[in-house]
Amino acid sequence: MAKARKNGLYSGISAELSALMKTGWADTERHELPLDEQAPYAARRRAALSALFPGERLVIPSGNLKARSNDDTYPFRPYSGYVHMTGDQARDGALVLEPRPEGGHDAYCYVLPRDGRDTDEFWLGYHAELWMGRRRSLAESERVLGLSCRDVRAVADDLRADSAVPTRIVRGVDAALEAAVTSDEERDEELEEALSGLRLVKDAWEIGEMRKAVDSTVRGFTDCVGELSRAVASSERWVEGTFFRRARLEGNSVGYGSICAAGDHATIMHWTDNDGPVRPGDLLLLDAGVESRTLYTADVTRTLPVSGTFTAVQRTVYDAVYEAQEAGMAAVKPGAAYRDFHVAAQRYLAEKLVEWGFIEGPADRAYELGLQRRFTMAGTGHMLGLDVHDCAEARNEEYVDGVLEPGMVLTVEPGLYFQPDDLTVPEEWRGIGVRIEDDLLVTADGHENLSAGLPRSSDEVEAWMARVAG
Ligand code: GLY
Ligand code: MN
Ligand code: MN
Repeated sequence: MAKARKNGLYSGISAELSALMKTGWADTERHELPLDEQAPYAARRRAALSALFPGERLVIPSGNLKARSNDDTYPFRPYSGYVHMTGDQARDGALVLEPRPEGGHDAYCYVLPRDGRDTDEFWLGYHAELWMGRRRSLAESERVLGLSCRDVRAVADDLRADSAVPTRIVRGVDAALEAAVTSDEERDEELEEALSGLRLVKDAWEIGEMRKAVDSTVRGFTDCVGELSRAVASSERWVEGTFFRRARLEGNSVGYGSICAAGDHATIMHWTDNDGPVRPGDLLLLDAGVESRTLYTADVTRTLPVSGTFTAVQRTVYDAVYEAQEAGMAAVKPGAAYRDFHVAAQRYLAEKLVEWGFIEGPADRAYELGLQRRFTMAGTGHMLGLDVHDCAEARNEEYVDGVLEPGMVLTVEPGLYFQPDDLTVPEEWRGIGVRIEDDLLVTADGHENLSAGLPRSSDEVEAWMARVAG
């Protein structure tokens, strides 16, 4: 806050200019702002967190802007635990749950309120509204969030003033706030674990947001197929830009760096340079997700034959991945072990790889030894939500060693990747990468494929491309 905005070519501010700037502004306080529809859900999430940590103060920061150079910054994305517990997206904020003597907690959302017009801060400060855009007043934030709000410039002093209260803070989000708190690293990690675990089962409002993110993603994929010839004429970047346009138009952004991988780039799990050619005859692996305005993300992959039809080898690989995904999805139902879908898909792929002679059988032995991993590389899926790899800090007992429950949302995304320099497979297989990824909601009696709007089997994909590809 002490940091001042640099004046560039200007040198100094006259008293007359300072006085002029402070006068003649309308009162823009918004008295009619409605309560955010997420507020009652966030209140229930806070109650669940409160019950896990009786008598303790909990500090959950939102994070700060990161400078790119000078006063240019990277796009801000708040810490997901803060978003989940408040419904807020402010930067430099923090949720503080203060334990009440009689049990439970009082919640305070510390945020940076809008600048008054009585100091130079609103036009010269580091966070100057005239440069950064209007923020909410504390009263406005209270109306929207349904939470008591306080000025974040007081948070460090408030926390220090009563430092006898046992305190936990989520580390790695706001260094300055962390420095103001005395806490124990292991106990802090338990807070992060709890926040992550509380996101495993999505509430009804969150499921609605996931549907929006996936529906926008389906439209984004359709855009990319519709503009495939533009990608062939330029590069993978056309695909990235096409999807990004949809993501910014309908959502906040992409939920992770889009993977637009044509040709043998498809064998690179995290290919995000997206600067290669898109050639007819090759496959294009597109792994992308729109992040909703409320910061929930989809995570979908389709692998497309650029020319519109698969070659025989491409189809063989594609159909094996499709069958593995079918086997994985069949295992997604309440009460099933979380790992079941992964085991089902990996077993199927191990069998195919033995059948093709690429790994030594029998298939059970190959699976037990994990030999298929040379070609399947990654796990078969993960939880999805505010983060693409949502709930990643949750305890193993709750997540990877846990059981599926209605309201969980996860990806099922088997793949096969034959590296271009892999001498253990025939030459025509080298450089082929296929992944099919869908987003599944666990329901009371099975699952719903939220991304079913996109064609998936090889025949459906070809028919889709014949219809839509431009
Ligand atoms: N796009 C990242 C993943 O599929 O996990
Ligand atoms: Mn994924
Ligand atoms: Mn993905």
